Amino acid sequence: MLNPQLRTIVQQMPKAELHIHIEGSLEPELIFALAQRNNVSLAYPSVEALRAAYAFTDLQSFLDIYYAGASVLLKEQDFYDMTAAYLQRAAADNVRHAEIFFDPQTHTARGVPMQTVIAGIYRACQDSPVSATLILSFLRHLSEEDAFATLEAALPHRDKFIGIGLDSSERGNPPEKFARVFARCKELGFHLVAHAGEEGPPAYISTALDTLQVERIDHGVRCTDDAALVQRLAREQVALTVCPLSNIKLCVFGDMGQHNLLQLLDAGIMATVNSDDPAYFGGYMNANFEAAFAALPLGLHHAQRLARNSFAAAFLPAAQKQALLDEVDAYFAAL
Ligand code: ADE
Ligand code: ZN
Repeated sequence: MLNPQLRTIVQQMPKAELHIHIEGSLEPELIFALAQRNNVSLAYPSVEALRAAYAFTDLQSFLDIYYAGASVLLKEQDFYDMTAAYLQRAAADNVRHAEIFFDPQTHTARGVPMQTVIAGIYRACQDSPVSATLILSFLRHLSEEDAFATLEAALPHRDKFIGIGLDSSERGNPPEKFARVFARCKELGFHLVAHAGEEGPPAYISTALDTLQVERIDHGVRCTDDAALVQRLAREQVALTVCPLSNIKLCVFGDMGQHNLLQLLDAGIMATVNSDDPAYFGGYMNANFEAAFAALPLGLHHAQRLARNSFAAAFLPAAQKQALLDEVDAYFAAL
């Protein structure tokens, strides 16, 4: 049970979202509307049937349906509409800033031009009520060569994204597979992040830091299998973008009561709370905070820490970051 006062506080506090796959914000209703608009046929007869299929056993069982859902995105306006819907939903959860992943290979492999993908998502960010920046994510189940070709195709649009990420099927696709392309992205001046330690072993977190030289780890929850790694993450203040509802839906933890978010915070790690793929995992930012705070003995000071961490870990200019941290502190001081 979540105390109603604490629920209101976590709902209303200013926050940043640092781990959201824009394709994972496509609600079934929008998937069906875009399928109709674009004459794409779907394997499910109705919104209800599609939603009923969202019973995942692991990451791959989710990814299969997530890539199928994205097949309705063809035109620039489709990418705009998807992104605008997410940003409106984020604003309702008092998200002040979002760093949004997009997976260009999911679209370019179907013949959608890179320009279409980036222009639609970027225009929605520009029209947004919430500060928003983009992180181009490579699909790790594809080859290094494909990642290099994707980077090449995206570089004419380099002013429209600030970072590079790594997502998709983790196990069997270790960070070092992308060492050279990440080295090139670092030379080009992009911020670097990677999914690691979601389903994969703690060693993937270490190699993402050491070989890819990432600045944040997406998920990273499996670090607690390695005590020395937990100490390192705390000492170096490496941010982890944790996604509580995702971890339950994909069976990383049996239930929210077993989630290690509190353990991470208690160890001094800079953990943040995020939604990952909110249309598939049962909720947006506030739903993630509420579920974690309902199941774990997290209190007011944890709420303030999580709100502060979200801005401290953001890739924002120093003045904007400080203004947002001050906003958090003023919000909690006024309670
Ligand atoms: N792509 C979208 N969501 C993902 C997740 N949770 N892990 C890896 N790749 C993803
Ligand atoms: Zn993710």
